[in-house]
Amino acid sequence: MAKINRIGVLTSGGDAPGMNAAIRAVTRTAIYNNIEVYGINRGYEGMIEGDFVKLQSKDVSGIIQKGGTILKTARSARFRTPEGRQEAYENLTKFELDGIVVIGGDGSFTGASILSQEFGIPVVGIPGTIDNDLYGTDYTIGYDTCLNTVVDAVDKIRDTASSHNRIFFVEVMGRDAGFVALEGGIATGAEVIMIPEVKNQMVELRQFLSERAKSNRSSIIVVAEGDDEGSAIEIAARVQPEFPQFDIRVTILGHIQRGGSPSCYDRVSASRLGVAAVEALLDDQKSIMVGIVHGQVVHVPLSKTVKTHKGVPKNLLDVAHVLAI
Ligand code: F6P
Repeated sequence: MAKINRIGVLTSGGDAPGMNAAIRAVTRTAIYNNIEVYGINRGYEGMIEGDFVKLQSKDVSGIIQKGGTILKTARSARFRTPEGRQEAYENLTKFELDGIVVIGGDGSFTGASILSQEFGIPVVGIPGTIDNDLYGTDYTIGYDTCLNTVVDAVDKIRDTASSHNRIFFVEVMGRDAGFVALEGGIATGAEVIMIPEVKNQMVELRQFLSERAKSNRSSIIVVAEGDDEGSAIEIAARVQPEFPQFDIRVTILGHIQRGGSPSCYDRVSASRLGVAAVEALLDDQKSIMVGIVHGQVVHVPLSKTVKTHKGVPKNLLDVAHVLAI
């Protein structure tokens, strides 16, 4: 067992529902093991500015059900520079932190991995992003809640789409990955799902619209924001003149996908991973992400999770394909 007296915890990058549940689990597991905990506000920006606050068990009570992050978050340009990281490290030394837990996505883990390489400070990552695009874990914290928000929104759009016999293009988040679009699309019975992982989908879209023109029925086309063919607005504008018989509308779901009370799944995963992260530090781990694969907690080197691409599962693509007839 490593001698750990004091750790820091931060959230970084885009917020995700369930981050608070992870902060709570990290804090309480540390206190359970007689370790002091400091919350680092606004991610790496707060690390550079020394914006640290001691967390007691009561500070994390009543937050498991809350979206967002009580520690705030940021995307830090300064932390990408050696000078910024040096300042951050000096604050970690000043506060005598023996390890850091970083809750975030791939950008946050790239920073975490460099920090541990440059200064030898133990860092454990907890995957928290609605995009689900981190290698080494089946699901990231926030993804399940995000999907439920997408399902709720698209179901509502379906009501009005079918009432008017309209074609709706619905754009969902996911940066350059198609997980949200693929699972959200399957769950809402989308007629077409456009994601960056599948190429030349305009052909499929045009075929579909030609078929639909015969029946004049409504349809939902879910578009991942990172799709190669462009945004939902651009794709809709391209096909509207080719299919003037359709009354096309576009909805961009946007940041509502990042908010809201975390689902049961996200709360439980965040709690498990928060416990596992502190246990990993006690176990002398230096630079890993804790993830969940096939229901079990796993450790993955941070360097591997940031360098390896996580593809969308082939079996889900097959499901979407079969059900799109
Ligand atoms: O990484 C999470 C995410 O919500 C992506 O899906 C999206 O592309 C991006 O963050 C938006 O970032 P911001 O809120 O900084 O505009």
